[in-house]
Amino acid sequence: MKLSKKLEQALQKQVTLEYNAAYVYNGMRIYLDDAQYAGAASWMTKQAKEELEHAEAFINFLDSIEVKAELGKIEEEKTEYDGLLSVLEAALEHEQMITESIEDILKIAIKDEHFAAENFLRKFIDEQVEEEDSFRGLIDLVKFAGDDKAALLKIDSILGQR
Ligand SMILES: [Fe+2]
Repeated sequence: MKLSKKLEQALQKQVTLEYNAAYVYNGMRIYLDDAQYAGAASWMTKQAKEELEHAEAFINFLDSIEVKAELGKIEEEKTEYDGLLSVLEAALEHEQMITESIEDILKIAIKDEHFAAENFLRKFIDEQVEEEDSFRGLIDLVKFAGDDKAALLKIDSILGQR
């Protein structure tokens, strides 16, 4: 299975994007800890770790098709947000960007008839459906709680159980 330059570049870029996602979620985690949302901070820490695993999966996939992974540049990341809802909305937006990126790589893999890459990427499409769904669920929950401090505390403690 020959890997086209275009497909290789797209896969390489995804490695950095996944590491970057870990960086984004760590920024959120730092904010959440500082804002006394201990449960949400712990939830976000796990989310960040998952992103590291995604990056590793891309590195391992590249290695399995005899391509040496490259690590691109990661920009500075913010640690300031405007409340729990703003964090979750930013997280959903970030996941949507990641989904788009994976869909773009999948389109190239399909066009190139690189079936191994296609299979590998489809698993990530499933993963993205789950990620987006979980953030949407949390956003609905926090919106429902509104300004009710007791309800927000309860949500935070539920998040801490992840
Ligand atoms: Fe990811």
